[in-house]
Amino acid sequence: MGVEVWRAEAPSNIALIKYMGKAEARSNQPANASLSYTLDHLVSVVEISPNASPFDEWRPLREEGFSPIELSDKGKERFLSHFQFLKSEFQISGGFTIRSANNFPSDCGLASSASSFAALTRCAYNVGLDLGRPKEVVEAFALEELSILSRKGSGSSCRSFFRPWALWRGEGADGVQLPFQRLHHQVAIIEDGKKEVSSSEAHKRVLTSELFNGRTTRAEHRLQQLLSALNDQDWKRATDLVWADFWDMHALFETSSPAFGYMSPKSLQVLNFVREVWRELGDGPMATMDAGANVHLLYRQDQSQIAKRLGAALSEFCQVIGSPGLIGERP
Ligand code: DP6
Repeated sequence: MGVEVWRAEAPSNIALIKYMGKAEARSNQPANASLSYTLDHLVSVVEISPNASPFDEWRPLREEGFSPIELSDKGKERFLSHFQFLKSEFQISGGFTIRSANNFPSDCGLASSASSFAALTRCAYNVGLDLGRPKEVVEAFALEELSILSRKGSGSSCRSFFRPWALWRGEGADGVQLPFQRLHHQVAIIEDGKKEVSSSEAHKRVLTSELFNGRTTRAEHRLQQLLSALNDQDWKRATDLVWADFWDMHALFETSSPAFGYMSPKSLQVLNFVREVWRELGDGPMATMDAGANVHLLYRQDQSQIAKRLGAALSEFCQVIGSPGLIGERP
């Protein structure tokens, strides 16, 4: 009999209204609601198999088409401790080996915790369906509940259970019906060599910024405006709101104490390219940045030509990863 292996995948997501700052740090309760678009082409995979010991361990997964994830000791501890929590929720006992990988390069600053924690939560649930006692308890978990469990491991992962749009308010995320069901995505990979401040650390530090006063209200207000702009299919207005929200978040970083930042000259160059496109055509992609130097771009379906043109221009000076069919496409 072969060794039993459970497997699950989960996509990454990009926030258009950002989760930044926690109301309750230990369980990743957000200071404000956030809205994201799910990135189906950027995926993490997790495999779980029983091991002979009573302890859990983590290993990179080696498989064609995937890049093994590299985790620091702290990263491993965090991943394993979320698994411990899931084991108790699904009433699973015994020691397991967890293997994980991404379908994108692990050294490009994209390795967000969102897809890997969502994949871990999904995979532990699959283990629970077979080994959890009693089975009905595990079966009763709905997607919304898995989202809540995943949030406790890493906040942004709770949005990766819904597609294409996810709205996270409070305990967990839920799908939200909006136009623009299929967007093209590109990310300009900017390596800036700066020492990284993790997003978990960023959540703590922004609380010290003078600008954090009013952030919750601003983000909530912007979210309502963005939902209505998207519903009205007002792409330009939506783009401006998304632009404002990532600058709002980066302003918090730059004014924290100690201050830190991710914006690099190359990020600004990419943002300028985007502005040029908008100026020339009166149309263009939405741009946003997370806690890193990379610039994410979202395009409507009818903007494929713009995406190809801008993607080609950007690939002259940085790596570009994009949705299938675009410059920098990933399988
Ligand atoms: C900038 O979800 O990585 O990407 O809950 O501490 O794991 P933890 O933080 P994390 O924060 C993501 C922050 C962000 C914005 C966003 O995705 O909304």
